[in-house]
Amino acid sequence: MKRRWFLASTTAVALATIGLTTACGGDESAGGDEAGGGVLTMATSADYPPYEFVETAGGTEEIVGFDVDIARHIAEELGYELEITNIDFNGLIPALQAGRADFVMAGMTPTEERLQNVDFSEIYYDAKQTIVFPSGGDIATPADLEGKTVGVQLGSIQEGLAEDLAAETPGMELSPLNRINEIVQELKSGRIDAAIIEDTVAAGFLANNPDLEAIEIPEEGPVGSAVAFPKDSELTSEFNRVLADMESSGLMEELIVKWFGDEAE
Ligand code: ARG
Repeated sequence: MKRRWFLASTTAVALATIGLTTACGGDESAGGDEAGGGVLTMATSADYPPYEFVETAGGTEEIVGFDVDIARHIAEELGYELEITNIDFNGLIPALQAGRADFVMAGMTPTEERLQNVDFSEIYYDAKQTIVFPSGGDIATPADLEGKTVGVQLGSIQEGLAEDLAAETPGMELSPLNRINEIVQELKSGRIDAAIIEDTVAAGFLANNPDLEAIEIPEEGPVGSAVAFPKDSELTSEFNRVLADMESSGLMEELIVKWFGDEAE
């Protein structure tokens, strides 16, 4: 019941923001100098349950998820309204650089390469990498991707990881796609043999698709999610402050349980 309440309380605002998302230019977005009162534009790729996904209920579409709840809380704490814009993962960093969004939350991992173009908050959640494939497929280790076509999300760290694996795995081919749903469809239809997806996201797709299974990629350490900002944004430290409060108050833990289940640590 607690969960329902939380969801209901966030619904109205989300409904109001979806659909307006292409209209927000850099000028309208809240820069560092306006202290609160403005609108913060969050860009995301809403293909990534439970982080962010489009929920269709009663004919309306709403972007919901773990990241969305965190963003709403932070915006509220800092005195901003929140707008959400839904674009392909590969376009998120360019959107920040072009001033079309104030921040990105998309289960995005801070990497050296990305840090050259954007700033990141502290990491707020950790995950691991898995290989997803049709049940019964003979894949026990990454080396078994030999001769296989592997789907990854364009511009994701999974694409980078797959490129590294392909360099040492004979005949492994990459199939980079824009949306995770497309990757799952390609897997189910047999047009690709496997995909690299992070564990928590894979778990959701597996629960809905019993014809798929997954193994963890052992040598990859945890990969965390953080909020991305345009370089030198004043929002970075403000977000970090609220994220730290959410950790110490137990709210972050509550949201983790809400979206990832009790088994998540
Ligand atoms: N953590 C990975 C990365 O940063 C994948 C994130 C994909 N997120 C999404 N909303 N599709 O590259």
